[in-house]
Amino acid sequence: MDAIFELKNINLYYGQTQAIKGIDMTIERNKVTAFIGPSGCGKSTFIRILNRMNDLIPECKIDGNIEFEGQNAYAKDYDVIELRTKVGMVFQKPNPFPMSIYDNIAYGPRCQGVKNKAQLDEIVEQSLRRSALWDEVKDRMKESAMGLSGGQQQRLCIARTIAMEPEVILMDEPTSALDPIATQKIEDLIVELKELYTIVIVTHNMQQAARISDNTAFFMLGELIEFGATDKLFATPQNPKTEEYITGRFG
Ligand SMILES: Nc1ncnc2c1ncn2[C@@H]1O[C@H](COP(=O)(O)OP(=O)(O)O)[C@@H](O)[C@H]1O
Ligand SMILES: [Mg+2]
Repeated sequence: MDAIFELKNINLYYGQTQAIKGIDMTIERNKVTAFIGPSGCGKSTFIRILNRMNDLIPECKIDGNIEFEGQNAYAKDYDVIELRTKVGMVFQKPNPFPMSIYDNIAYGPRCQGVKNKAQLDEIVEQSLRRSALWDEVKDRMKESAMGLSGGQQQRLCIARTIAMEPEVILMDEPTSALDPIATQKIEDLIVELKELYTIVIVTHNMQQAARISDNTAFFMLGELIEFGATDKLFATPQNPKTEEYITGRFG
């Protein structure tokens, strides 16, 4: 197995409250890993650990060992900005910048110093092609991104992440604000993207996890109850709590 993240004995506290309790997890490269579990169980907290987004929350303390590509991602001299470039993130509500479609994608590369117009054009086109949006927007690159549908906005946000050439794309409930057709497009896209990227997705939709993920992690009250191959976890859960959850007896 080709591990991209190795997490060992992770504990996370918001002030006095422990939100993540002694979790170990290995995340495989070029696979889709899904996080499922009832609301408030720590899915968003845990996914934010992977690119140190929790650093931005005051009162948040974490301990344990987190290796990204074999390096301690929480070491004092680790470059957090680079980590967040390599481990990009897409949120629940599409959040395009209030600027043109083109500029949304070019923004990150420009900040990194790419100035050449032809080079930017190429990054923009490739990112939009990879996010399955190019055909829909190629004739309206100068229009505001705010005029796109919700599903298109979410694919634009994925394209914006791709433009930074990440290794990993984190997605926290990326389809929960979308209609079924837009959701289907994002699901198809995720399956395509794993050829090139490692995907970690939080979803409250178990069917979605079953459809698109290779590995599934089931959380409850800050604990990792079960983690393994998705088909196995859904077909023959090892823990009775997992079985109760996936058969819909609570949640
Ligand atoms: N910024 C925060 N400050 C304090 N507590 C938080 C914060 N974010 C989440 N929590 C708490 O941590 C627990 C896990 O939350 P979260 O990771 O958002 O769960 P999920 O994404 O599974 O719904 C919850 O009890 C929640 O109230
Ligand atoms: Mg959440």
